[in-house]
Order: sequence, then structure tokens, then C-alpha cells
Amino acid sequence: MQNLDNLKQEITQEVAAANDMNALEDVRVRALGKKGSVTGIMKTLGGMEPEQRKEMGQTLNLLKTEIANVIDNKAEELKKKELDARLKTEKIDITLSPRFERRGSVHPLSQAIEEITAIFADMGFSVAEGPDIEDEFHNFDALNFPPNHPARQMHDTFYLPDHEGQDGDEARRLLRTHTSTVQIHVMQETKPPIKSIMLGKVYRSDYDATHTPMFHQIEGLVIDKNIHMGHLKGCLIDFIKAFFGLDDFPVRFRPHYFPFTEPSAEMDIGCDRSGGKLVMGEGNDWLEILGCGMVHPNVLKNCGINPDEYQGFAFGAGLDRLAMLKYGIPDLRTFFEPDLRWLQHYSFGPYDQPNRTFKG
Ligand code: DAH
Repeated sequence: MQNLDNLKQEITQEVAAANDMNALEDVRVRALGKKGSVTGIMKTLGGMEPEQRKEMGQTLNLLKTEIANVIDNKAEELKKKELDARLKTEKIDITLSPRFERRGSVHPLSQAIEEITAIFADMGFSVAEGPDIEDEFHNFDALNFPPNHPARQMHDTFYLPDHEGQDGDEARRLLRTHTSTVQIHVMQETKPPIKSIMLGKVYRSDYDATHTPMFHQIEGLVIDKNIHMGHLKGCLIDFIKAFFGLDDFPVRFRPHYFPFTEPSAEMDIGCDRSGGKLVMGEGNDWLEILGCGMVHPNVLKNCGINPDEYQGFAFGAGLDRLAMLKYGIPDLRTFFEPDLRWLQHYSFGPYDQPNRTFKG
């Protein structure tokens, strides 16, 4: 009996010391295998007296079961350990390392929109929007275009196919040729005072290095009592200063004609082209920047505003052209081509802030 206790203790210690399944299997074979220590003692049962055999048989069976249990428990423990170790070493990294060369960036047009919006927001302007698909009323009639104005012709303006060729039909639908349409929407929907800019896509039947069938404009509208040309000039000069980062520059308002403004002007700023490249803000040349004027009384009337009570000014500029001038981009068509090299060169970081705002 004493020996059996010792044997049990010995085997239990060996089981506890087994570090892996192979070592445990060795312990099992040495104890319970055909030639194992416990099996060896079992074999001696045959030579015993029946009384003793019965007693020893029970004790030995119990011992066998106990040892088998200890081994099973240890096996469970080792399997769990092995699984944990495998899980640690076989970990699959499902994350992708960042590909910096493909990082998204801000298109120069979006950047220009951000900057311009920030400058006018500092001056108290809100942003208004209007539809790209318009009717002739908003694009032409309300803006005081005479019925036979050349801009209404089909080789200039994209009419929608279901209305093509129906000249004289006031409901003819078209792709807006300028953002001035939004002035009409704003004046129809809001009472003065009005101080808004409008930015967006416009469409004309044109294609060369400086014209694309779709391009972008920025428009401004200010309507209030006692608004005059001085307000227009001050506002636009401040805008150009802030956008191009110029402290002082030659500027002229050259008389022009737009049906929707009277008087009308084009704003030019001084520049120097003599060195083969354009330097803005100095020199003896002029660069046309935008169109502007005092809102024509007919336009106010068309929108239900009394021109004897309210006056205002408006302006419109090519947004793409402003971006080309500021960022030094030579060809307008490249704005709308999906060329990643071009984007990498001209685009901005996603966290870039508009770089110059109006500090008035
Ligand atoms: N709508 C004009 C164009 O597309 C630009 C323009 C000129 C807008 C003068 C204005 C303005 O609001 O006052 O050429």
C-alpha cells in the first residue's frame, strides 16, 4: 500500500512536470502502457489469494482511474496552452499600411472656393445656391437680356434636348450660362438688404485652352438703400487684396456693357508681362479680373424690388481663372482631366487652411 502511494505521488509529479503533449504521453506509457508500472502491478494480481486479489484489484483500479484523470486534466491544460501560444504567433494583421502616395488632396478649385468664401464671409456675405438647369427667364429675361441677344443662340447656350429649337418659348430649359441666374432666385426669395455670393458650375458651347464647355463662376450681389459705385469698388479691391495677397496695386474700372447692370465695368489690375511671365500688382500692363456694375433698375423690377427705394451692385468672375492666376496653372482644360500627376502638383493638403483672409 505504501508503495502504491509512493508510485501515485511519483507519477503525479511526473505528470505535473510534463511540458508538452509528447512528454505527457511518455509519462502515460510508463505508468499505464502495456509495460507500464501500474500495468506491471496489475499483472501480479493473478498470483494472489482471492481475498487479497479482490482488495488489491479495487485499489489498483482506483489508482488507474485517478492517474488517468490526472493525465486527462494535464492534457486539457497543455492543449489550451498550445492553442494560446499558436494564437499569439499566428496572429493575422488585417490592417493595411497607409499608402501615402495615394493620399487624397484638395483640388485647386475647391481650395479657391474655400478661400473666396472665407474672404467674403469675413465681409459679411452669405453663400446662396441655385440650380444648374434653368429656364430662359432666370438666365436671360429677368436679367434684362433683349429677345435677340446673341448669347441666347444655340451655338453659345446648351438647351435641353426636349425643348431644342422652340425659339420664343419662355419655358425653354437650358444649362445656366452664368451664375447671375442665382441673383434672380435670391431677389425673388429674399427681401433686401441682400449680401450674398454664389458659386458654381456654368455651361457654354466653347472649347480651347482658356474655354471649356463647363467652368465655374463666382457672383456677388449687394442690395440695400443708398448703395453706390464706391461700395462696389471698395468691396472688390478688398477682395483682390485678400485673395492675391497684394498690399497695393494699380486698379481701373473700365466701362463695359452688361444687360443686367448700369453702369457696367470690367475691373482690371496692373500687371507686368514683360519678363515672359505674369507678375500681378505692378508694371504697365492690365489684367482683366471680373465684370461688375450697379444692378439695372429693370432687373430689380423683374424681381419685385422697387428701384427707387433700393440700389445695389453685382459682380461676376471666372472662378477657374482666378485659381489659374493665383496658383500659376496655365491651361484651363487640365482642371477637368483626371490626371493624378497634375493633381499631385497643383492640389492642396486636406488640412490646409485658406491662406489669406480679409482683415478689414
Ligand atoms: N454674368 C457675366 C458673365 O457671365 C459676369 C458678370 C458681369 C456678372 C457683371 C455680374 C456683373 O454680376 O455685374 O460674363
